[in-house]
Amino acid sequence: MKKVLILLLTMVMAVGLAACGTSDKENKAGSSDKKVLVMGTSADYAPFEYVETEKSDEIIGFDVDLGKAIASKLGYKVEVKDMDFNGLVQALKSGQADFVMAGMTPTPKRKKNVDFSDIYYTAKHMIVSKKESNIKSLEDLKGKTVGVQLGSIQEEKAKEIAKQVDIKIEDRNRIPDLIQEMKSGRFDAAIIEDTVAKGYINKEKDLTDFTISDKPEDAGSAIAFPKNSELTKKFNEELKKMKENGELDKLVVKWFGGEQ
Ligand code: ARG
Repeated sequence: MKKVLILLLTMVMAVGLAACGTSDKENKAGSSDKKVLVMGTSADYAPFEYVETEKSDEIIGFDVDLGKAIASKLGYKVEVKDMDFNGLVQALKSGQADFVMAGMTPTPKRKKNVDFSDIYYTAKHMIVSKKESNIKSLEDLKGKTVGVQLGSIQEEKAKEIAKQVDIKIEDRNRIPDLIQEMKSGRFDAAIIEDTVAKGYINKEKDLTDFTISDKPEDAGSAIAFPKNSELTKKFNEELKKMKENGELDKLVVKWFGGEQ
């Protein structure tokens, strides 16, 4: 009798454990019953996405809050995955990410490979340089080395400038590397989006900047999805609601400290 009881108990426990195992798996991204969406990002871009290393290794920022807010309205959780900016479009194409939020601009070239939501934040390009190098206009860049993030529209912008002014373009994978290279004197300047550049200007007293006038939408941010993803329309609808009901503005104030 006792033996039978022990056997029964063991069986019940085994079944219980197995059940735990499966439910765990089902909640992971990539399974058929998807409750978690993987958000690809490049966490080198405060205040859009970054890590406050003194505090934790969690990726935080405007994009993370916005992505999580929209996903949760649609019944999803979000797992944030850090990658190089240059690999994000490919990550969508290969199914490593369900959507990308990385201050990414919906350019015609990218639209050939991925779909985009509407723009949720606009931006301009800035030339960041050391105060002592006295760079105040595009003409002042003549003969200088200009750093840009690999695969960004700032890289495209640099190529455009190079047609008029003789500059040497250097690319790096991460934005902080551009700042480092300037501080150590290897780069004379860098092209960085205005809100991100401002963050560095406030911290690094030897740096300065100026805006190269562009239409604000030219460098705006949108959410990217794999081509024909069913998420695009759903996300866009929620984004629209958040624009209308002031929720988006609240996040703008939280992360950028003011309205656009
Ligand atoms: N808006 C620019 C682009 O789409 C730069 C974005 C860079 N984002 C980042 N997380 N580093 O090319």
